[in-house]
Amino acid sequence: MVVAIVASVPSFLLASSVSHASSTSSLFFTRLRSSAGLRLSFAVAPLCSRRAKFMAHSLASANLGFTQPANIEHPKIAFAAKEVDVGEWKGDMLAVGVTEKDMTKDENSKFENSILKKLDGLLGGLLAEASSEEDFTGKTGQSTVLRFPGLGSKRVGLIGLGKPASSPAAFCGLGESVAAAAKTAQANSVAVVLASSEGLSNESKLGIASAIASGTVLGIHEDNRYKTESKKPQLKSVDILGLGTGPELEKKLKYAQDVSSAVVFGRELVNSPANVLTPAALAAEASKIASSYSDVLSANILTAEQCKELKMGSYLGVAAASDNPPHFIHLCYKPPSGPIKSKLALVGKGLTFDSGGYNIKTGPGCSIDVMKIDMGGSAAVLGAAKALGQIKPPGVEVHFIVASCENMISGTGMRPGDILTASNGKTIEVNNTDAEGRLTLADALVYACNQGVEKIVDLATLTGACIVALGPSIAGVFTPSDELAKEVFEASEISGEKFWRMPLEESYWESMKSGVADMVNTGGRPGGAITAALFLKQFVDEKVQWMHIDLAGPVWNEKKRVATGFGVSTLVEWVLKNSS
Ligand code: BES
Ligand code: MN
Ligand code: ZN
Repeated sequence: MVVAIVASVPSFLLASSVSHASSTSSLFFTRLRSSAGLRLSFAVAPLCSRRAKFMAHSLASANLGFTQPANIEHPKIAFAAKEVDVGEWKGDMLAVGVTEKDMTKDENSKFENSILKKLDGLLGGLLAEASSEEDFTGKTGQSTVLRFPGLGSKRVGLIGLGKPASSPAAFCGLGESVAAAAKTAQANSVAVVLASSEGLSNESKLGIASAIASGTVLGIHEDNRYKTESKKPQLKSVDILGLGTGPELEKKLKYAQDVSSAVVFGRELVNSPANVLTPAALAAEASKIASSYSDVLSANILTAEQCKELKMGSYLGVAAASDNPPHFIHLCYKPPSGPIKSKLALVGKGLTFDSGGYNIKTGPGCSIDVMKIDMGGSAAVLGAAKALGQIKPPGVEVHFIVASCENMISGTGMRPGDILTASNGKTIEVNNTDAEGRLTLADALVYACNQGVEKIVDLATLTGACIVALGPSIAGVFTPSDELAKEVFEASEISGEKFWRMPLEESYWESMKSGVADMVNTGGRPGGAITAALFLKQFVDEKVQWMHIDLAGPVWNEKKRVATGFGVSTLVEWVLKNSS
């Protein structure tokens, strides 16, 4: 049975049919299946084309699905560096970072480590007993929380660090374990201490304290903006014991908080679904950062019309199918005072959704359902802008550039086989509409070079091939410059993020040749991450030092199904290296 209805269809279900009306003027029917399984057809009356266009745009930007993120504040955790005896400290949980060596016991089953010995003494031997009963040996990832009445601290947590001489990543992990234990215990106040901290240089104490602080902030963070019910985190204060005190350490802890709140910001951008985080919404977030730190940051958002004047045919080709118009984002950081020693650009891929276009993503493993993450590069770039707006480093100018759009399907979209002309005049035969990121980056890189910068780092969720090569937690690094590689790898040693340098094998350019244009946009499956990088290289001035980072894997935590905020902290460290 077919029943014609018009009035009883909710208006948001009509959105897609009305937006189609902008390109087709004839009357057409849309079918819906009602909950009772009844087939319903309803007619949509033709609209005059101007009105239809207006409707299409207002409907596309109207909040599809009615979802709005809740405005959840992340209460700041108060970090303080103190020299308080572990037996004297009062609060909800004293967390002790221990290596396997710290856990060794003498012939009387007593701890040899002085801090553990002291705590065990205060607890009448219960700590040694409980740790062996729980089979806690100090391996990385192990942790145990014990409740002891009679001590200043309500609980003692032992957190495994594995082998001694750990990296920043290991202390970040300690912070994350502390956060997890604090959540379980619903602790308000926590102290963190290392069982062995003697012999550490001042420099390494600073690094360890800040890594613990970052790990704690990142471990506490949960993105509950789209959940109707959620628990508020309880943790208010963290005392870091035994790693020194004073203004230098306080400054470092403040820095760790600035960076980790920018990582949280990056995560939330990536977690935001594409019906909420449109290119316009991403541009609005960027403008908000610039106005929050207007002493050092300025914003320029280019419309499609302005990008057309700049002849960005490659970027606009990708944007053409979407009813959500593209927004080209350009933020600029200038130090509050003093001369500028170096000029840098950070360029991020900002596809708020990647359907693949006419080469639509189909089949198992295509991950179309998580393609909101395709703006992960831009999240790292804007996260870095936010952190640098707070830190205000001297001597460096930084441009943050994102050619944001959506890769969709419609009658106005680019077809496989179309030839696009980028803003540097080069022509591209689009042999695959799903290799869209490089098309947007092409014009963004040309624009970045025109800012007169010496170095460019671009970040993009560019290829599935890079995930195949390096797995889910390591980003691929592509650069002809050993000098730039050295700088970024040094930065990553501080941030603890994982990168691996890949070859920019010029002979593979062979597969990117077109019969009719200067190049095609994809070269087939072999070396897919490398040919993507070689494509980008076509749009960078030879005088400029350039690096491409493919973060398609590490941007997303598949187990927890949330974003990681990858890239922010390494970018900030790299910019600081270039400041004076
Ligand atoms: N956004 C994807 C890459 C991607 C895949 C990111 C999985 C995150 C997770 C990119 O635009 C893409 O579709 N790349 C293609 C390139 C191919 C057509 C040459 C790919 O990797 O399949
Ligand atoms: Mn794609
Ligand atoms: Zn993509």
